[in-house]
Amino acid sequence: MTLRVGIIGVGHLASCVVEGLCAVNNPPDILLSPRNAKRARALSKRFGVRTANDNRSVVSQSDIVILATRPLQALNAGTDLPWRAKQTLICVAAGVSCAELSTVASPATIVRAMPVSCAAIGESPTSLYPDDANARSLFTRLGPVIALPDESSFQAASVIGAYYAWIYALVAETMPWLETAGVPNTAARSLVLQAIRGAAGMMLARPDDSPADMIHKLATPGGITERGLALLDQRGALAAWRDACQVSLERLQNQ
Ligand SMILES: NC(=O)c1ccc[n+]([C@@H]2O[C@H](COP(=O)([O-])OP(=O)(O)OC[C@H]3O[C@@H](n4cnc5c(N)ncnc54)[C@H](OP(=O)(O)O)[C@@H]3O)[C@@H](O)[C@H]2O)c1
Repeated sequence: MTLRVGIIGVGHLASCVVEGLCAVNNPPDILLSPRNAKRARALSKRFGVRTANDNRSVVSQSDIVILATRPLQALNAGTDLPWRAKQTLICVAAGVSCAELSTVASPATIVRAMPVSCAAIGESPTSLYPDDANARSLFTRLGPVIALPDESSFQAASVIGAYYAWIYALVAETMPWLETAGVPNTAARSLVLQAIRGAAGMMLARPDDSPADMIHKLATPGGITERGLALLDQRGALAAWRDACQVSLERLQNQ
């Protein structure tokens, strides 16, 4: 039987999830909440997914419901809906705890997940808590799933949702610099993006090598890698990444 997946909160992330789920064989039967009708219509036109009359219908007609509103809207959106046992609520709203979700969606099974927008192309690292076979099986269609052992580590892992966006900021600094230095736009784009993909690919292919090992092999004494890294360090650019992670975690804990 085809899996029925409902989505409450049809915004940017939900659109990426729908795109990713519809790109694989045997896609689930997807039912969208009607708010944000324009986006739901566009998804329906593109992927043939259906839109429900209201959030109650989304819950009553789905085996798995993804709650993808903004964090402050999530509990309100999930309240007074016909949740039932043997149904899974997966909340992707950052910082909303399992305990809070249980108060509105019991007796459904509660899972938190943190996919990112590259779910659209099946490349999202999705953190999950608690580990749940149904949620794992769904998100595996969108990229690798990483289950966390407790909610506090899941919260810390959720910072990767922000880190993923910062990578674009790094690209946004480097690409125009190359162009200003005379590299044609398409070449600059390919070089910067393939460098990121290649670095990630190397570390995934060599699980025993640490980032420090990789850098050590690349940074010849007095060479350009060493020189640039020294400047980044001296200006606090590397430590600032750690600080940005910490500030993001604190934001999640205090929202
Ligand atoms: N964007 C990402 O890449 C990303 C990555 C990881 C996690 N997340 C998480 O995913 C969640 C959604 O992010 P987003 O960027 O997709 O936000 P978004 O574009 O603002 O989408 C949220 C959607 O939820 C709708 N909504 C609010 N209350 C609702 C209700 N009661 N019933 C049905 N729909 C309702 C909103 O409608 P209105 O506009 O009318 O309020 C909006 O269309 C956030 O909690 C975020 O933490 C996002």
